[in-house]
Amino acid sequence: MTSFSSPDNRERLHVKYLLDPNLVSELEDGKDVIWGLTQPQKSLAPRYFYDDRGSQLFEQICELPEYYPTRTEAWILQKYAPEIAQMTGICELVELGSGSSTKTRLLLDAYRQMGYSLHYVPIDVSGGILEASAKQLLADYPTLQVRGLVGTYELALKNLMPTPLPSRGICFLGSTLGNFNQQECDRFFSQVRTALQSGDYFLLGIDLQKPVEILEAAYNDAQGVTAEFNLNMLRHLNSRMKGNFDLSLFEHRAFYNSTEAQIEMHLICRRSHSVRLKGIDLTVQFKEGETILTEISRKFDLDQMQQYLAQQGLKMLQTWTDPKQWFGLILYQVP
Ligand code: AVJ
Repeated sequence: MTSFSSPDNRERLHVKYLLDPNLVSELEDGKDVIWGLTQPQKSLAPRYFYDDRGSQLFEQICELPEYYPTRTEAWILQKYAPEIAQMTGICELVELGSGSSTKTRLLLDAYRQMGYSLHYVPIDVSGGILEASAKQLLADYPTLQVRGLVGTYELALKNLMPTPLPSRGICFLGSTLGNFNQQECDRFFSQVRTALQSGDYFLLGIDLQKPVEILEAAYNDAQGVTAEFNLNMLRHLNSRMKGNFDLSLFEHRAFYNSTEAQIEMHLICRRSHSVRLKGIDLTVQFKEGETILTEISRKFDLDQMQQYLAQQGLKMLQTWTDPKQWFGLILYQVP
């Protein structure tokens, strides 16, 4: 575990690494990869998309004409951030999967306009993008305090320090919740609940159900950025786990599974071959046409989500959406 602080902003920036990016830690990595690649339907966890290159590609995805979620959520935040700031009052902003923190600025602006002190805790698995964005934020918000955590959500939620501010708000934007299946969702919310106290807030952004053509276009962009993003996961595993995936032997495929109400992203194998991941001592056989499931992206129903989160012990305060009801933003409070 290492701590980092930049010399010019020594007081205002701290970034703590909960994962050593150069080591395959027995606990966190490796086991899930071995498990995923040895099941009948092979799969890999979406968090392996986000090495520094993958985070850059995701930023590019957010700008694509077909990829509506980012700009739709930003539109909602742009419009309602002042209302959110007013409802929560002064609070420490914790963000799960902060990435470039672009949308977060809309929230920070609203808090700043109310004259509130700004404490921001970005959490991301990619240290490169977290540090770069945090430095940019410090330059743009002269009184902002940043306490970043590099690691998985689970590790970071366990390692949150008590906040000096009256309350804490955890934001989980961009519909990243959609990456979790039901069981993972349940686990996630029990971890979130332990990081929150009575009176604290949870702000959730979710992608909503809509015509299949719109959904599928968003994950099959004309420029092929999503395909590159998908394939980059193999490159990441190659470098992280000393693997020899040949990217030219896999192809991107994304489609809407209407039974499960989720987009599924796969990498299809073009011809039979074997792959070796030396770092985790794993050799895997691939058959032609076989796929690796790299991501599910669930599309939610607002009413069902309200019911579910009520069961998780969160009280809904307010819901906001866009005119087409493509995306939803919900503010909850711990009773
Ligand atoms: C960041 C998980 C919300 O599911 O839409 C974008 C990731 N994958 N294009 C999503 C993603 C392909 C994104 N999330």
